[in-house]
Amino acid sequence: MVNLVQALGIVALLYHTSVAGRKIFRFDYTYSSDIDGWWKLHNIPITWDLARQQCLAEGAVLLSPLNEHYVMAMEMIMATSNGSIQRGIYSGVHATYSKGVYTSIEGVPLSKIPVSWAPGEPDNYNNNESCLLFYSNGTMADINCNEVRPYICYKKKNKSVVRSDCGTTDSQYHLESRTGSCYKFHYMGQTWHQAYMTCAAEGGHLAIINSATEAQILKELFAKYPANKVIAKYTEPVSVGFYDWNKDYTWVTIHGETLSEAGYSNWPVGQPDNAKIGNLGQQCGGMFRSGLLDDVWCDIITFPFICEKKPDSLLYENS
Ligand SMILES: *[C@@H]1O[C@H](CO)[C@@H](O)[C@H](O)[C@H]1NC(C)=O
Ligand SMILES: *[C@@H]1O[C@H](CO)[C@@H](O)[C@H](O)[C@H]1NC(C)=O
Ligand SMILES: *[C@@H]1O[C@H](CO)[C@@H](O)[C@H](O)[C@H]1NC(C)=O
Ligand SMILES: *[C@@H]1O[C@H](CO)[C@@H](O)[C@H](O)[C@H]1NC(C)=O
Repeated sequence: MVNLVQALGIVALLYHTSVAGRKIFRFDYTYSSDIDGWWKLHNIPITWDLARQQCLAEGAVLLSPLNEHYVMAMEMIMATSNGSIQRGIYSGVHATYSKGVYTSIEGVPLSKIPVSWAPGEPDNYNNNESCLLFYSNGTMADINCNEVRPYICYKKKNKSVVRSDCGTTDSQYHLESRTGSCYKFHYMGQTWHQAYMTCAAEGGHLAIINSATEAQILKELFAKYPANKVIAKYTEPVSVGFYDWNKDYTWVTIHGETLSEAGYSNWPVGQPDNAKIGNLGQQCGGMFRSGLLDDVWCDIITFPFICEKKPDSLLYENS
């Protein structure tokens, strides 16, 4: 006999399984058969190039109205949203490679995209507009790419994409049994602030060192990428997840603990030294190849960086 509680449990399980199935890409994306893939609305407005980078780091691209199905899907997503969405969202259609030559991120030329222009558009106002905005009524306009707008990221369905034991379709994350975390070494350098965004978009965070063992793991990972395999302004140190919050040597992890609370605060003699480039000091966290900590510039200078994620971080909302 199945009692009511058990029956509800089975229904919940079936529902959960089907939802999880459709959400195989990541929990924060919604599947739509109309566009044969997954989408995510970002309602915090940012510039077009940052939006492009954000989608890329999530493993997706900026959604474009590639055909009538996409146009309808975009209108529907926008119809159920409020606030800044009503001023239009960025599409992936842009002319940033060459002025006036519009293509979608996937490379579909404007002539193959079903555009209906808003009144007076496109006008390339001040000869300074290279990104296409999509309004909730389905019309489009060109705007300055430095304007801030919401946007939708899109992942086309692809059966050969599988989720690894790190709970991501990104095959560069590897599970480490000594900590139960997954790590990805980014050998293409970014500034610390960019790296923070990239790790977050990948479902993780800049690596937080919670023990000598974890420092050892990161040190071993760094050793797999000697200087000639790193593409960055500086090939050492590697950016990790701590920060000088008050710009007064109050070093805390990006999750708000002091380094000793977090479990690792091994600086070499003479560090942190707040070395200056002009007026620019070092407020961000790094780790030398030796495994010892260093302070690094947060902007301008690119370093390799290490992201850390829990295997279930992209599976469910509450993990
Ligand atoms: C949009 O705002 C209206 C009025 O403030 C509200 O009733 C509605 O629930 C909101 N819709 C969404 C999707 O947030
Ligand atoms: C184009 O826009 C950028 C950023 O908004 C601005 O710095 C630049 O002066 C503009 N150029 C022209 C020709 O208006
Ligand atoms: C669609 O929206 C744009 C931007 O708000 C507006 O300029 C245009 O008049 C609208 N077009 C129609 C047909 O409603
Ligand atoms: C599907 O994904 C694989 C692996 O990422 C890639 O090589 C392939 O080109 C993709 N296929 C399509 C149709 O996008």
